Amino acid sequence: MDDKDWELFKQKLNAKTGIDLQLYKEPQMRRRIGNLVTRSEFKTFTAYFDNVVKNKDTFAEFIEYLTINVSEFFRTPEKFSLLETDVIPYLLKRSPKLNIWSAGCSIGAEPYSLSIIMKEMTPNQRHRILASDLDIDILAKARAGIYADGELKAMRADRKTKYFTKTPDGKFAVKPEIKTAVEFKRHNLLKDPFETGFDLILCRNVVIYFTEEAKDQLYANFFKALKPGGILFVGATEAILNYRKLGYTSYKPFFYQKPE
Ligand SMILES: C[S@@+](CC[C@H](N)C(=O)[O-])C[C@H]1O[C@@H](n2cnc3c(N)ncnc32)[C@H](O)[C@@H]1O
Repeated sequence: MDDKDWELFKQKLNAKTGIDLQLYKEPQMRRRIGNLVTRSEFKTFTAYFDNVVKNKDTFAEFIEYLTINVSEFFRTPEKFSLLETDVIPYLLKRSPKLNIWSAGCSIGAEPYSLSIIMKEMTPNQRHRILASDLDIDILAKARAGIYADGELKAMRADRKTKYFTKTPDGKFAVKPEIKTAVEFKRHNLLKDPFETGFDLILCRNVVIYFTEEAKDQLYANFFKALKPGGILFVGATEAILNYRKLGYTSYKPFFYQKPE
């Protein structure tokens, strides 16, 4: 597992998936993937990769490990409360129909949580909720909208009853009224072009392994994607320290605004 092997592995991964590890924190990613290789029967990154691509299921597991898609409904509930009591009412005063993007949506818990909030706040208004992720398999799970109890643990009990139906195997399926309000698409935040005209962008718990340069570029791209007055909401450990340099003002901790 020398440098040459690692470089070749990165090239192969990029060619196959469009995931460019140059834009991720190198030592952490190399260690993470190295752990996998060491636990396997293979001796090099490339041998491991050549084998893992042969089987659709093992490849999907590998991408899931690489991209870390852990998520849950109403993750960090106090921040979601702020969204409901302050940020969304503020945005609704400016525009009755909101264009919202959950970037790095994983299993769909984040955009469906938004869909629930929007339904409750504006029952007669349809908004746009775009949800995107790099990982095709996780998007399939998001579109299916079926969850284990643990993924709903931060959600109020009345919402669980109201917006989910119990499946025969004890899981919870999101009701169509919540589901159809979310539009999913595959999108690589470090590569693909961005849509524009968003009132609100959520990008939470996605950038943990991105390099500082990749993060700066991402936040600059979000800035362009927001409408003037629009707000970017980031994860609870992901405060943007240089937000002023990027053009944002601070709306509330972890919420950054594009000035008018
Ligand atoms: C930990 S989940 C976060 C889910 C949700 N936002 C939350 O806070 O619960 C991180 C997600 O980011 C996605 N991701 C990682 N790199 C990405 C990239 N370059 N472009 C788009 N999505 C990416 C992963 O596939 C994963 O589903």
